Amino acid sequence: MEEKTACITGAGSGIGFHTALELARQGYRVILGIRNAEKAAISANEIRKAVPGASVLPMTLDLSSRVSIEAFAAELSASVPSLDILVNNAGQMCSTYKTTADGFELQIGVNYLGHFLLTRLLHGHLKKSPEGRVIVVSSSAHYGGKIDFERFRSDKGKYRGMPAYAQSKLAKVLFAREFARRHPELRCYSLHPGVVASDIVRGENQGLLMTIGWALFKPFTFSPRRGAKTSLYLATASPPPEPNGQYFDEHQHPMRPSRLAQDPELARELWEVSERLWREAGAKI
Ligand SMILES: NC(=O)c1ccc[n+]([C@@H]2O[C@H](COP(=O)([O-])OP(=O)(O)OC[C@H]3O[C@@H](n4cnc5c(N)ncnc54)[C@H](OP(=O)(O)O)[C@@H]3O)[C@@H](O)[C@H]2O)c1
Repeated sequence: MEEKTACITGAGSGIGFHTALELARQGYRVILGIRNAEKAAISANEIRKAVPGASVLPMTLDLSSRVSIEAFAAELSASVPSLDILVNNAGQMCSTYKTTADGFELQIGVNYLGHFLLTRLLHGHLKKSPEGRVIVVSSSAHYGGKIDFERFRSDKGKYRGMPAYAQSKLAKVLFAREFARRHPELRCYSLHPGVVASDIVRGENQGLLMTIGWALFKPFTFSPRRGAKTSLYLATASPPPEPNGQYFDEHQHPMRPSRLAQDPELARELWEVSERLWREAGAKI
């Protein structure tokens, strides 16, 4: 039987690493999308050590750069005949205004727009799989999110990190729904992984209070291995869960997402704006 391939973004730590490790255990060839080449090599070796004989391809992917996303998609497409699972897992949380190489606000840029471009570029390869799936790691933070297109490329008003994070996670839930509508031949789901003891809250990106609060709270949260459970379920459940485009909680249950996340017009508009923004930034999509 042809070996199945899964690609996981942000596979160098936390939930992404454990998603990749478990998929390797289940016999998938895993492609690790990691922004730091050294970290990618270390993660690949850890997986090979834990799963002797695993097929692991570490590749450099920086979701804050169109050039890097395009190079990654080209390398992946040249390396494997098809892609069965794409896990859009990587994420950034930060409290100060920063931008990506293409001028997008960092959190919407990395968490959502970077994955939008990546998924569009890998769509042809996903279609070559008999049952291609895209798994979108969002967050329950999306319940507090609003979409303000003007904020995708500017810091108008006072910048607040949490609303920007929530916006990016709402965009991911809307994306999963719209992707499933546009591409019913593929499966696409979004999810909340639980509150997980990972490095998502980092001192260099957060205020002191948040960093200390997170350190105190961490022992009461899921392990990253447990946090990977819903991604793994959605990536591998047979038959695939119905309906397509649905949002799931950390217990693998389908959940009603926020009111805004269920708005089909907003999902369509978000898709169109994302496409336009990337074309203006030079992407050929
Ligand atoms: N932990 C939670 O409680 C929680 C709750 C809800 C949702 N989530 C979501 O779960 C996902 C995984 O996060 P985690 O908790 O496992 O935290 P994590 O260990 O910090 O994982 C995030 C990963 O994203 C990568 N990343 C960040 N910016 C990137 C970029 N520009 N290009 C490529 N990769 C980039 C990071 O790579 P580097 O190591 O190089 O920075 C890291 O490996 C995220 O989408 C997060 O928002 C987490």
